[in-house]
Amino acid sequence: MFVAVTASELRRKVRLSERPVGLAPTMGALHEGHAALVRQARADNATAAVSIFVNPTQFGPGGDFGAYPRDLEADLARLEEAGADLVFAPAVGEMYPDGFDTYVDVGGVAAPLEGKARPGHFRGVATVVCKLLTMTRPDRAYFGQKDAQQCLVVKRLNADLNLGAQIVVVPTVREPDGLALSSRNVYLSPEQRGAAPVLYRSLQAGRRLVCQGTSDAEAVRRRIRGVIEREPLARIDYVSVADACTLQELDRVDRPALASLAAYFGETRLIDNVIIGGGP
Ligand code: PAF
Repeated sequence: MFVAVTASELRRKVRLSERPVGLAPTMGALHEGHAALVRQARADNATAAVSIFVNPTQFGPGGDFGAYPRDLEADLARLEEAGADLVFAPAVGEMYPDGFDTYVDVGGVAAPLEGKARPGHFRGVATVVCKLLTMTRPDRAYFGQKDAQQCLVVKRLNADLNLGAQIVVVPTVREPDGLALSSRNVYLSPEQRGAAPVLYRSLQAGRRLVCQGTSDAEAVRRRIRGVIEREPLARIDYVSVADACTLQELDRVDRPALASLAAYFGETRLIDNVIIGGGP
């Protein structure tokens, strides 16, 4: 496994690598969810590349950039085990040279939900993903369904800027009790950790309602909210039932919909989602 820290090292290494090349962009603090991305990249491609970069531009002013968990040695050991061939682990100055002043702004799909709750977040994500895809020029790039809106933002920018990668969305990896794996789960107290599976339970309750024949999207949102509100340690940020492609809120679940939510447990903000409905 080769570790590149500069863009030129990365480019040189990719030029010498067997194609197709798959890239899994990450911010480190790797868990089984990331390992699933790498395993998929490994299975689909001759070369599996992974980037580890805690991207400052996607954190808000009061965000947890400084406190974001970092453990490069543990991450490299995990990647070796998952079968990565090439790791790109640049310093901030390599990605954002002095005077950096060029950003990528994705339109409509980046505006609601996480875009509204975290102004500037997707500008940072789109900018860094654009740079990573431009430097690596992978045949495929791998993202987790847990960050469903991020997947849509990345697909949009990849198409709009003709970056030419196939964007592969990998299913969410969950703990046995349903909690979606996230690097932020380490911040939960034991009580909060015990309460957090309510998020997936609420989404499943919403999905069940649709399976039973309800198409009233507001009734689905109410059901999801109702389940979470019974958990005193959870505080809802938003609950959404939106078109799975445009993220416009739906009146009726008459096409594939993304049921998504964000909720706080103390200071820790978790997100989760499921796809529901498929229309007639
Ligand atoms: O999902 C993440 O870890 C990050 O948002 C990404 C895609 C690596 C960009 O920094």
